[in-house]
Amino acid sequence: MASIVHLAGRFFGSLRPGGPPRTEVDVVRTELGPAEFEIWSGMSGPDRRHSVGVAARVRGILGPDADRSVMAAALLHDSGKVDSGLRTPGRVVATVMAGLVKHDETTIRRWAVGGGYRRRIGLYLLHPERGAEHLESAGSDPLTVAWTLQHHLPRADCTLDQRLADALRVADND
Ligand SMILES: [Fe+2]
Ligand SMILES: [Fe+2]
Repeated sequence: MASIVHLAGRFFGSLRPGGPPRTEVDVVRTELGPAEFEIWSGMSGPDRRHSVGVAARVRGILGPDADRSVMAAALLHDSGKVDSGLRTPGRVVATVMAGLVKHDETTIRRWAVGGGYRRRIGLYLLHPERGAEHLESAGSDPLTVAWTLQHHLPRADCTLDQRLADALRVADND
């Protein structure tokens, strides 16, 4: 589990606006299809910075086995967060509230179709599913869609090749 210092560093880092440098954006453009790049471009600056970090770590772990679909999974796994409209402080509230309020999947789905702030929290908690739906519509590779859908599931519930899934998980949790 990440240390509190590490988590605090990530929190304060995610408060800084702005995406990755132009040179990294140009690389991302070559790694994604046009529709995927449009989805990536709609992500928040901190989420885009996070995504290029995950992609770089995955490439470092897998080397040439990090094919196009794996790189797209690294870059787009959190793309569904856009739907909630929540930025870092709101996401912290959503995460804390989800921990404090007794809820199951039915509750989250009710929040997501309701109104007000609960709707945003519900959408945030459903970001794997929302992202997977958007990527499927964009014609992404099935592996990219599957990892986006499964990236918060326990290891045992993951249907991907375990070596690829482990690399993506480690890179995301760094
Ligand atoms: Fe996520
Ligand atoms: Fe992530």
